[in-house]
Amino acid sequence: MGIADELRFVREMRAAATFGRFVSLNDIALHRDSPDLLEKYGIPAAAAHRGLAGGRRLLPRRSAFARYSARIRTHPWMLAEQCSPKYYRDLVRHLHTKRGRIRRIVEVGVFLGGASAYLAQAAEDLGLELHLADINPAYLGYTYERLLSLLPGSDRFVRLFHGDFPSYVAADQMLESPQGSFVQFDASHRFPDVVADMVAVCRARKWIHSLAIQDTHLRSDLIEAEVFVDMAVQAVFGTRLRYRSIGITTPGERRNIPTPHWRPFTRPRAPEGILLELAKNRCHYAPRASHG
Ligand SMILES: C[S@@+](CC[C@H](N)C(=O)[O-])C[C@H]1O[C@@H](n2cnc3c(N)ncnc32)[C@H](O)[C@@H]1O
Repeated sequence: MGIADELRFVREMRAAATFGRFVSLNDIALHRDSPDLLEKYGIPAAAAHRGLAGGRRLLPRRSAFARYSARIRTHPWMLAEQCSPKYYRDLVRHLHTKRGRIRRIVEVGVFLGGASAYLAQAAEDLGLELHLADINPAYLGYTYERLLSLLPGSDRFVRLFHGDFPSYVAADQMLESPQGSFVQFDASHRFPDVVADMVAVCRARKWIHSLAIQDTHLRSDLIEAEVFVDMAVQAVFGTRLRYRSIGITTPGERRNIPTPHWRPFTRPRAPEGILLELAKNRCHYAPRASHG
């Protein structure tokens, strides 16, 4: 899929009847009858792969992350983990460290459930709600079924939202939430979309404890892909952002990233992701008109 096709797909999704609301498996249009979960949701097998090697070094015995990781690795279904093991470990650590202050996790951009598999286990352990939001309902369906098989009973605390974060906030989903949400973003990487996501964060800031943003180290050879996640965050929160780096940081540029059509590469010494606590940051751009 090229960038033009991707943008067309996003326009179609925004016009869908389910966009901007919670959905069940029955609402997910691509639902087919097949024992192969990828086929059932029309997802090419090449999209999935076994988890990344190398996570074992990060596994202090008896840590929550080690337990979660062991459960995921012994599960038979294919997965795709698009973040580094360290990024997932840092998310899990944050949730455990802020135990009692975070009551709900909102994950925006689930793909095949790489992060969701960790977040759902943390949600179960810590008694949190988990809302999964994605613009593509096939990924929501796949991830949800995978979670149900990995964690029977997760239907008690997991809900699916078809949409992006601005539509989640516009649908007043934050308003009915307990204060203290943690939002994990790994959704669109395009500058205007990330600005719209961050503006929505500012709108809902009263309900948000903290957020993690993935791929702050990415750029693309194709300028029209507009991959500037870190700059978009700064456009809204200012250049004096107070954050913690999460995930990996590599000394040199990396180009072997499995998303060929927009030719991404990582910036040397830039963090894979960042974690912001809202109480420590100020929104510098918060327009009154509705966005996106
Ligand atoms: C990089 S993948 C997420 C990978 C996943 N977090 C993991 O751990 O493997 C990006 C996901 O974001 C979704 N997406 C793209 N644009 C979006 C948007 N504006 N809002 C919500 N989801 C979006 C895509 O459908 C895809 O599922």
